[in-house]
Amino acid sequence: MSSPHDSVPAVSDHGGSVPATQEPIPDPGLHKHTWRPTDVDDRLAKRAERQIAAMFVLSMLCAVLFVVAYFTLEIGDSFDTVGYLGASTVALGLSLAGALLFIGVGVIQWARKLMSDVEISEPRHPAKSSDADRAATLQSLDLGAKDSGIGRRPLIRNTMLGAVGLLGLPALVVLRDLGPLPGDRLARTIWQPGMRLVRDVLGTPVKPSDMEVGDLINAAPEALFPTEENGYEEIEGVELNVEKAKGAIIIVRMEPGDIVSTQGDNWSVDGIVSFSKICTHVGCPISLYERTTHHVLCPCHQSTFDLADSAKVVFGPAARPLPQLPLAVNEDGYLIAQSDFTEPIGASYWEREKES
Ligand code: FES
Repeated sequence: MSSPHDSVPAVSDHGGSVPATQEPIPDPGLHKHTWRPTDVDDRLAKRAERQIAAMFVLSMLCAVLFVVAYFTLEIGDSFDTVGYLGASTVALGLSLAGALLFIGVGVIQWARKLMSDVEISEPRHPAKSSDADRAATLQSLDLGAKDSGIGRRPLIRNTMLGAVGLLGLPALVVLRDLGPLPGDRLARTIWQPGMRLVRDVLGTPVKPSDMEVGDLINAAPEALFPTEENGYEEIEGVELNVEKAKGAIIIVRMEPGDIVSTQGDNWSVDGIVSFSKICTHVGCPISLYERTTHHVLCPCHQSTFDLADSAKVVFGPAARPLPQLPLAVNEDGYLIAQSDFTEPIGASYWEREKES
């Protein structure tokens, strides 16, 4: 028998070619066929036939029962034995299930006992068309091109190609509606020199003495919590939400000796560092702080940042560290920002250079 391997040059264990007629793995061929009792005994075959027919008859009975139950049982009738289930529901469900089940059993028995079970094999043919088919196809294409006159009428051909090519332009132009590039909008936040760091939601300012080593506080710029005392102007609506999102930070306290590096000189206070809460991958809020390693994890795609080492990426798809907020302490002992972030916050899949 021919084998699909016949035409493939084989390679020996030692890297050399072996003759194409020699198969690397011998074809085991088909197992010896075992005849079923119904193949060799007419009496058994007849009995199987009757059993299978009985299944189909049972299916028919169930179908008829379904129709009878549908028209005779009222919704709300009940069988004592099935408790709260309505008689109609039970009868319809069981009769329909029986009709389907007996058809299935009958077909399976038919295939197992009576249908031919002789194994056959069919050699695979190459997927590519024959040379003759390919030649015929090329010929018809050629004929079609000649009939259309595309070669003889360059004006039509060229203008048509131009029209089809320019069809891509509208698709490109509407991409503009996806919105302006956010690079510059993310380059500045509401943080300013001297602005206090306040607890998210509560709006209360934070002192270094409020934090133990290992603590993490979700915080925000004080300007988002205007009061008469701090004198910040109220902002609302979309602008408020945008500034909230951009200004979100985390404050973490660790042993000062654990800090390996910061993104600028004197940006930490007594082991307290602060970073943007917005992941630099695609902008999820980071969370899940591990105090022993100083790693913080973004739950979206598991980017992990080492807060003790300038928030460098130690794992995951983020391509750059979390921007750091330079910290200081004011005369009242509260944590303040030395300045805005010195680079754009947020996701980094577009040009991120900050304009000076
Ligand atoms: S958004 Fe943080 S890892 Fe993807």
